[in-house]
Amino acid sequence: MNSPTDMLEQEHRSIAKVVAVTSELADRIEAKQPIDREILRNIVEFMRVFADRCHHGKEEDLLFPLLVANGVPVRGCPIGALTAEHVKGRSLVQGLAKATEALAANSDSGRSDLVSNLRGIADLYPGHIWKEDYLLFPMTNKILRAEQLEALYRGFLQVDQKIGKSVYQRLEQFAETMVQ
Ligand SMILES: [Fe+2]
Ligand SMILES: [Fe+2]
Repeated sequence: MNSPTDMLEQEHRSIAKVVAVTSELADRIEAKQPIDREILRNIVEFMRVFADRCHHGKEEDLLFPLLVANGVPVRGCPIGALTAEHVKGRSLVQGLAKATEALAANSDSGRSDLVSNLRGIADLYPGHIWKEDYLLFPMTNKILRAEQLEALYRGFLQVDQKIGKSVYQRLEQFAETMVQ
């Protein structure tokens, strides 16, 4: 069977690879090493398109409402907490984007904002991914019936189509280059 939670877990592996680089970059910036603006811009694009529009989109627009329709409370743990973390992630990525552009304009404030947003991303995502992989997804597979999971999987494929297969693959590939 095509598993929607396997698909999300797979995407977590890509997101985790990009997130792993953020604390390293923050260290380098704090050590006053030269900053590669291109990599920061690529991370912003990855986090906006792959992590947020595509991955969080699948979770917030399709998975969470389906779970709520099947009796999971919309507030509190786990859906309320995970949604709040998505909001926080979005604001950190927005902060990272702003700081990257401020840096391009040679503003000094860019550096400290870069560090705090990079560290914020590094702190937020591993725990978020853990909660989904070990709590939300097992729960999902227990609550939803096989045909609901199948329909969810098809819905996820439509999200990918909207993003565009080539964009999806390019960003997935970008995450792989982060490991090297
Ligand atoms: Fe999430
Ligand atoms: Fe997720």
